[in-house]
This record gives sequence, C-alpha cells and structure tokens, in this order.
Amino acid sequence: MSENAPRHYIDGHEISGGRLVNLIDRAEELRNGRPQEGSGALAGKSVALIFEKPSTRTRISFEVGVVELGGHPVVLRGDEMQLSRGESVEDTARVLSRFVSAIVIRSGSHENVVTLGEYASVPVVNALTPMFHPCQALADLQTLKQRFGNLDGLKLAYVGDGNNVARSLAVAGSLTGVEVVVAAPEGYQLESDVPAKLTDDPREAVHGADAIYGDVWVSMGDEETADQRRADLAPYRIDGHLLSHAKRETIVMHCLPAHPGEEITADVLYGDRSAVWDQAENRLHAQKALLEYLLAS
Ligand code: CP
Ligand code: NVA
Repeated sequence: MSENAPRHYIDGHEISGGRLVNLIDRAEELRNGRPQEGSGALAGKSVALIFEKPSTRTRISFEVGVVELGGHPVVLRGDEMQLSRGESVEDTARVLSRFVSAIVIRSGSHENVVTLGEYASVPVVNALTPMFHPCQALADLQTLKQRFGNLDGLKLAYVGDGNNVARSLAVAGSLTGVEVVVAAPEGYQLESDVPAKLTDDPREAVHGADAIYGDVWVSMGDEETADQRRADLAPYRIDGHLLSHAKRETIVMHCLPAHPGEEITADVLYGDRSAVWDQAENRLHAQKALLEYLLAS
C-alpha cells in the first residue's frame, strides 16, 4: 500500500487486532460521552452512504454517526445512481472521490465493492455484501468486551447459516483472540479455510461458549431458496433447549433483523440473556470510531 493510499474496511483484514481493540475502546468512550462526545473528525466533510439493498440499523447508525462527528451524510439508493444504468464502478469511484471524504456501501456484489476500493482515493467501508459484514462484527466485538471485559480467550458459537455475518465474525474473532465456532449443516457451512472451527453439531458448538450467535436463515439475495433453507436449517434454531447445553452465563447475540420463531425463539430473543439491543446500539459507536480512524491523516 502506498503512503497516500486510503484506508479501507472491506473484508475486515485491513485493521490489525491491536487496532481493533483500540477502536472498540474508543467506541466505548463515544458511547459513554454521547451525545456531547464527538471528535469533530468529519467537520466540513461529507460521506456517501450508498444502499443497494434494504437496511435499518446500518443506514441509520451511519447517518446519525456522520452527523454526530460533525459531517454531512449523502444517503443514496443504488437505483438513484447512474451505476444502476451502466456507469462503471471505476468511474463512480473516481467521481465520488472528488466530492466526499469516505464512501460507505451496501451492495449485492462483493467484487464491486473491492473494485470501488481499488479506484477510490478516499476510504471505502463495506456496509454488507454477500461475503462480509465487517461493521457488524466490529459492533459485536464491542458488545462482547462490554459484557466480559476482555476479548482474548472468549468463545463465540455461531449457529445457523454460514453466511456473511458468520464469515466476518470469524475474521474479527481470529484477529482479537475470540475463538469462533460455526455450527451449520452440510451445504450451509463456511469454506474450510476461514479462521473458525467448523462443525455440524450445534450442541458441540455451544458447549463452553460465552456467546451464542444467530442470524437469519434467508439472507438478502437468498429468497429463491427460502423454503429449502428453512427446512434444512430447522435443527439449528436457537432455543431454550440449545441454551441448556451452554453455561448459565452464556449470552445470546443476533445481528438483526430477527424472525422470532424461525432462527431464534421469542423467549430467547427477548429474554434476560439476550444482548441484541446493545449490539444494535453499538453499531453507532463502533462505526463512529471506525470513521475517525479511517479519516485520521
Ligand atoms: N444488522 C444489520 O446490518 O441490520 P440492517 O440490515 O438493518 O442494516
Ligand atoms: N445475513 C443477513 C444479514 C442482515 C443484516 C443478510 O445478508 O441479509
């Protein structure tokens, strides 16, 4: 990387484990200081927030976060841009880099986000692709640190579809000393070279885990196979029975949106051991810390 190359956050490997821990500590500072606390890191700057797919948490937390850092968010749907009419990703990157100080993008094509990063002269942040969801994982690390005081040595059991969220947890966990175990059935498991332990047995996965983590069974883009997915993943529902195989103090996490009764039961989602609402809130703090870091000269 040349000295002037922008800092990106696309597959989660761009930031070292030590730096991730610093970012989480900063995110905690921002959380404790809110609403007064803000570095003004984005004063006088604009950030493009491009959403080619639906979003509640990511879109709102980035928009609010940019404002709280003193900047101006430019929120765009993919179909509002010439990108949707054939303008190239490369040219979009070149032009946006002349206007804004960072580009945050949720896209159905991971390759397009990588290309955007190659041609942009400002930081590019992955706000979810079919491959990765690194901003979610960052907020999840913050949630784990809040609950347990440290990351190194924790065990997180992801149960369900081996998808973008699972893959990003594996990356973030491997960088920070969190052991990630992914329990998924055949055909839904992550590739064998991800930095996680893979199993098809949910009970084995949750044994000794500090956190059990779930996500939807039908991710955006998977709608055509929804019925098959629901049938195949049914044994991987996070419910009281599965929790009985974990420790008493094990917490439950979910990136949301959830489908109570499908991948997680309502009693678990809304129960005492659920950390999901803190996870959602932490999207704001973690992403503010991320933007400060990416834009620091
Ligand atoms: N967890 C998450 O990314 O939620 P949204 O799809 O609502 O942004
Ligand atoms: N795996 C889900 C995450 C949603 C935040 C999806 O990609 O739709």
